[in-house]
Amino acid sequence: MVSFINMTTTLRILLSLFLLGTAQAQLSANYYAKTCPKALFTIRAAVRKAVAAEHRMGPSLLRLHFHDCFVNGCDASVLLNDTSTFTGEQTAGGNAGSLRGFTVIDNIKSQVESVCPGVVSCADVLAVAARDSVVSLGGPTWRVQLGRRDSTKASLSTANSDIPSPSSDLSGTNGLLSSFSNKGFTAKEMVALAGAHTIGQARCVVFRNRVYNESNIEASFVTSVKSKCPNNGGDDNLTPLDTTTPVVFDNGYFKDLVNNKGLMHSDQQLFNNGSTDSQVTSYSNNPSSFHKDFAAAMVKMGNLSPLTGTNGQIRTNCWKTN
Ligand code: HEM
Ligand SMILES: *[C@@H]1O[C@H](CO)[C@@H](O)[C@H](O)[C@H]1NC(C)=O
Ligand SMILES: *[C@@H]1O[C@H](CO)[C@@H](O)[C@H](O)[C@H]1NC(C)=O
Ligand SMILES: *[C@@H]1O[C@H](CO)[C@@H](O)[C@H](O)[C@H]1NC(C)=O
Repeated sequence: MVSFINMTTTLRILLSLFLLGTAQAQLSANYYAKTCPKALFTIRAAVRKAVAAEHRMGPSLLRLHFHDCFVNGCDASVLLNDTSTFTGEQTAGGNAGSLRGFTVIDNIKSQVESVCPGVVSCADVLAVAARDSVVSLGGPTWRVQLGRRDSTKASLSTANSDIPSPSSDLSGTNGLLSSFSNKGFTAKEMVALAGAHTIGQARCVVFRNRVYNESNIEASFVTSVKSKCPNNGGDDNLTPLDTTTPVVFDNGYFKDLVNNKGLMHSDQQLFNNGSTDSQVTSYSNNPSSFHKDFAAAMVKMGNLSPLTGTNGQIRTNCWKTN
């Protein structure tokens, strides 16, 4: 009898721990409603200001959130500088000399710290800044789920393996479909997310091989890109990823792809007589379905393995652990 009671008690405790655990793992849109009601407004005002000062900051902030979430979840690991105990992610192949917006995030975080110290995570600042950037450039909005905490470490090797490369094919082991399905995304969601390239720019070094060596590229486009990206040198010369409207979050990127005007190899792979062609065509004809699917996929990306409960910490300074 005694052991029976003990057993049910133990089960009950285990059950409630389990329920508590799952409840803590949930993010919620109103997470800071009581603890930092000014958080969302503060972030939005700062993002608007930064994007107004330099339109490209919108795409740069969006990409920071993506590169955070794809490497062990949305935990602001991407923001950590190298330390004596670990090498951070900033020198990874997809990040080095390429990611931007760190000081804008640092500045936003300082403003948020001054309204509510120690409450709002860097990972949540990144998620909200990504949404506000898209909205600032005419894209769709979505309710950002909140309550992520920040990591105390980073992983250079995971950044190198999990951030997709511009030389990726659509299919195959290191292909785009597999790198996104490894994170739980369908092909359709992958195409929608890649539509982020409707804003922003890329360096010559990431598309040189395509423009000098590939034939599935429109003639006048390739001539104009080559004039800004020489065969040798000029690695950092920039070209917009969307040929006509690079600071408007429209469906111009998909229109480019159907015209063989994808800038990077990975871009044109989405429309190259393959399984994603029909989705690209569909988004090229229907901007509102792209907007709707992009917003939903961003919420899903923002849910990648967040740290919650007592895991991680709320960093005071996004560049370093407390
Ligand atoms: C499909 C696989 C993807 C690949 C292979 C890829 C690769 C790249 C590369 C190589 C660049 C240019 C980097 C440079 O020149 O230094 C870039 C830029 C960019 N990427 Fe992606 N990306 C992918 C998906 C995404 C996703 C899912 C998002 C966000 C949801 C995103 C957002 C951006 C943005 C906004 C830029 C422009 C950044 C700026 O102007 O600062 N990308 N991407
Ligand atoms: C074109 O492809 C060849 C063979 O793969 C390679 O050696 C060359 O570097 C490429 N050209 C450019 C400009 O990337
Ligand atoms: C795709 O197929 C069409 C029609 O068969 C062909 O003309 C075109 O060259 C192909 N494109 C590529 C990139 O293979
Ligand atoms: C992190 O690195 C950046 C860029 O090198 C530097 O500006 C910043 O001050 C560093 N922050 C900390 C806290 O080490």
